[in-house]
Amino acid sequence: MWARKRFDLSWLDIGYGLLQCARIGSVDPSHINQIWKDSRHPFTCLSVRTGFDLLLKALDLPRGSEIIVSALTIEGMLTIIEEHGLVAVPVDIDTATLAPTAERVESVITDKTRLILIAHLFGSYINLEPIAKVARQHQLLLVEDCAQQFDGMPEGRQDAADISMYSFGPIKTATALGGAVFSIARKELALQLEELEKQYPKRSRSFFFKRLIKYSFLKFISYKPTFAAFVGMIKLCGKDYNKLLKKSTRGFSGSDFFKLIRRRPSSPLVMLLARKLRRFNGKSLAAQRKLGDYLRTRLSEQSGHRVAGSDALNNHYWVFPVLVNDPAGVELSLRGAGVDADRRGSMVIVKSPADHICGYPENAEQILSNSVFLPLYKPMTEQTMDTLAAAVMNGDCPEEAATTHVDACVHSVPESLAQDT
Ligand SMILES: Cc1ncc(COP(=O)(O)O)c(C=O)c1O
Repeated sequence: MWARKRFDLSWLDIGYGLLQCARIGSVDPSHINQIWKDSRHPFTCLSVRTGFDLLLKALDLPRGSEIIVSALTIEGMLTIIEEHGLVAVPVDIDTATLAPTAERVESVITDKTRLILIAHLFGSYINLEPIAKVARQHQLLLVEDCAQQFDGMPEGRQDAADISMYSFGPIKTATALGGAVFSIARKELALQLEELEKQYPKRSRSFFFKRLIKYSFLKFISYKPTFAAFVGMIKLCGKDYNKLLKKSTRGFSGSDFFKLIRRRPSSPLVMLLARKLRRFNGKSLAAQRKLGDYLRTRLSEQSGHRVAGSDALNNHYWVFPVLVNDPAGVELSLRGAGVDADRRGSMVIVKSPADHICGYPENAEQILSNSVFLPLYKPMTEQTMDTLAAAVMNGDCPEEAATTHVDACVHSVPESLAQDT
């Protein structure tokens, strides 16, 4: 069975990380500054959430200030905004490009707006220039959230944003099982964040050691035969493997959220991140992009199914959100075809604050409710993409049936599809 995600972490990376846990001497996060390539100033910390929290601390915006946020994000980013007494104002995104238009951004600006936070979602890339122009006109800070969009260090690209945030958490591209790097236009701000970050306690080597062991196990079970065995065993125990997987890869959960993010990365984490950045060459992303394009064309030509982000400037399909009428039916059909797919992921809709001029982000809601996130990674082939496409088509109800919840929709999986498991 194909697992929903494979970690972008080799056994050699794990071995290197384990060796670093035994190494004597301390390595500062600023070690990454010598490796990170960008014309702006790098700042390294434990996670994007850690750095974003530090950024809001450094900016010290008046309470009640508004931050315009892409309407789809992760809960943690909203928790941080709230903690600083600020208000998140959603700006809806376009289903085809996954980008908010500059006009939409401008329409939600009020005299309380101080910052614009735009996320590149699901591996897609947005042209930020029109939004940057609006930000400049209104003297707002533009922060770009690239947590789902690392495809190489930013040197040589347009530096439209004041701050770009890259995450190297467990399920991210080029993961070091943690760590984040920010590219910051203003040097004084980068130095200020570094000073604030130094005041946090360091995470221990033993914590990182345990993390490496945990993800070695998760990596081991993410191969086709071991994943099938794992799912079978969990089912035998009467447990929901879906819930278990989500829980085991969720970072910084629970009531200790701020205590957990306000930490410095351990030395072995910094060393592993340095190795990942030095060795990154984008080859596997190119293969992933090719497979994603193939699947997107196939779905669109054969059944008219659309993919959120199909018209993005660039897309390496970190995940592949196919829009369907009946997500539960498609999930079931995929499972029958030997494919584990996720729904909703860990993203949330940014709710409109009461009495605000911004409307409800309907496109974002539709993307989240109607998407099934298909797995897409090496060593999948075009044949696997055919299996995925057929399972989506087979599992999806016609629109009317899905909206009226007609039970007559039958989800059978042809035998030929089950062969790719
Ligand atoms: C859109 C988005 N923003 C921010 C983050 C947070 O990144 P980190 O795990 O490094 O805190 C994530 C993590 O998945 C994300 O998907």
